[in-house]
Amino acid sequence: MYRHYLTTYLRPQAGKVALLALVFLTAIGLELWLPQILANFIDLALAGEPTASLLRVAGLFLLIGLLSQTLTIAETYLATDVGLTATNRLRADLARHTMALDLSFHNARTPGYFIERVDGDVGTMNKFFSRFVVRILGNVILMLGVLILLFGIDWRVGASLTGFTLVTMFILSRISSVGIPYWNAAKEARALYFGFIEERLSGTEDIRANGAVPYVMRRLAELARAYFRKDLKADLIGTTSFGSTIVLFAVGSAVALGLAAWIFQEGTITLGTAYLIFGYTQLLTRPIESIIREIDDLQQAGAAVRRVNELLEAKSTLKDGTQALGEGALAVGFERVSFAYEDAPDDRRPETESVPRPPSSVLTDLTFTLPSHTTLGLLGRTGSGKTTLTRLLFRFYDPQQGTISLNGLPLPDIRFDDVRARVGMVTQDVQLFNASVRDNLTFFDSNISDDRIRFALRELELLEWVEAFPQGLDTLLQAGGEGLSAGEAQLLAFARVFLKDPGLIILDEASSRLDPATERLLERAITRLLAGRTAIIIAHRLGTVQRADRIMILEQGRMVEYGERLALVNDPGSRFAQLLQTGLEQELA
Ligand SMILES: Nc1ncnc2c1ncn2[C@@H]1O[C@H](COP(=O)(O)OP(=O)(O)OP(=O)(O)O)[C@@H](O)[C@H]1O
Ligand SMILES: [Mg+2]
Repeated sequence: MYRHYLTTYLRPQAGKVALLALVFLTAIGLELWLPQILANFIDLALAGEPTASLLRVAGLFLLIGLLSQTLTIAETYLATDVGLTATNRLRADLARHTMALDLSFHNARTPGYFIERVDGDVGTMNKFFSRFVVRILGNVILMLGVLILLFGIDWRVGASLTGFTLVTMFILSRISSVGIPYWNAAKEARALYFGFIEERLSGTEDIRANGAVPYVMRRLAELARAYFRKDLKADLIGTTSFGSTIVLFAVGSAVALGLAAWIFQEGTITLGTAYLIFGYTQLLTRPIESIIREIDDLQQAGAAVRRVNELLEAKSTLKDGTQALGEGALAVGFERVSFAYEDAPDDRRPETESVPRPPSSVLTDLTFTLPSHTTLGLLGRTGSGKTTLTRLLFRFYDPQQGTISLNGLPLPDIRFDDVRARVGMVTQDVQLFNASVRDNLTFFDSNISDDRIRFALRELELLEWVEAFPQGLDTLLQAGGEGLSAGEAQLLAFARVFLKDPGLIILDEASSRLDPATERLLERAITRLLAGRTAIIIAHRLGTVQRADRIMILEQGRMVEYGERLALVNDPGSRFAQLLQTGLEQELA
């Protein structure tokens, strides 16, 4: 698993990684050399060497020290460069992948989840990319180097300090793993906190409209407090374990000093060498600490890699097909289709639902065919599954049972790109971006010329309407469609769809009431939009229902009526005729 990430994201930077390793190893070599120079200096001084040669040794010490610092800076720079290059590529890959994931995956997770994956976890992996391999290797080499040199001085020193190293590493690894669950808890609290903020910010209009600000603030305070507490605890435990490290290393220094003094008194070593024992022991503390921290980081990076991996592997639910869809209007077929949203929390269902049904089924055993060039009017109360049916056609989800086909081809066999290109959807509430009208129509595709946009708008008889905006196509729209009514936003979406020239149009009519002017625009635009295409219209207004060739009535996910509109109108026993009598618009609004 790690291998995959290392090869994918580090191999393109192999040169830099090699340079990083070289710099790091050289820095280690210098570090091992420094105490030797100092020991040499002590011995020379004690032997009464002339000042000039002492100065030479001191100069060498300074020079090496300086070089070693420079290398540390270079190493930090390289490591950061390598790490950020790798993680930014991974971020881009993850973001692209996330956008392509099917909607059931998105529905089941909060935006905070995706932010944590794409940014938080990848940030954790940064350390893994930039440091792990080079550092842990380097530190092991440094540690072994020191121990070997100590053995070279005196085997008793080598043996005692090897023992000390092993014991310290054991204790430290124990202590450091104590902190992990606390860090994880803090991270989770953080994800909840940010997920909450994201969700509430995007719902700010509804929250304010319903006077829910105090409740949101209260919940925010609760989440912030939980995050604060957990973070504090994790920090506290981290610091405590750091404190115990200092104690351990003090013990190590005392042991080294004692040993050095003892052996010095035996007369087998010089004072310089005695110092060397102490100096190397000091040098030991860093790799010990680093290795422990590196292993810690590896565990955290491991958890991050697992989570990122889980996200990257989540693609398989909807498989891309291979068949192409031809030009022209599309025929639609449903054969015994049943569908349920997965993991749908039960509380999403309206409580008013009178007949309890198995919690799973949103659409049940749906069979019908819609010839090309036909317009289907889809009717049903709120929650009956109308929008869901259209989502299946767009292949946002695959049904658990049955087959949906376009032009006789099963939907899963058709290439995604073809489905997306040949099926045009105008949703119930159109998402507008904080950008110009032009960008909102083209989705930022600058290849679409203004002439084409104008042509589309003229065809839909919307050109005058758009040109009446303060700056025409350059008028800046607000994200979330503020400033435009739901009906007006749909008018823009018509132009979006028209530019695609699809063979099947799905129109989920805005259920809000329209003013007469917008209604007229809408009627004309729909007429133009539907010409020469197949259409499924979820209608909330009588005017739209009347342009349907066929009518389907859904009730709690089941098709209770399907037929030619005129035939149904003339059959007083049909539900559609009854609906028309009781007032369709009241029933369906
Ligand atoms: N993303 C989703 N995840 C889980 N359940 C969902 C989801 N979307 C809709 N549902 C549920 O599926 C059922 C059908 O919803 P759907 O949106 O298809 O109804 P609708 O007929 O379009 O209603 P309306 O007229 O209000 O738009 C409802 O019970 C709804 O709660
Ligand atoms: Mg709907």
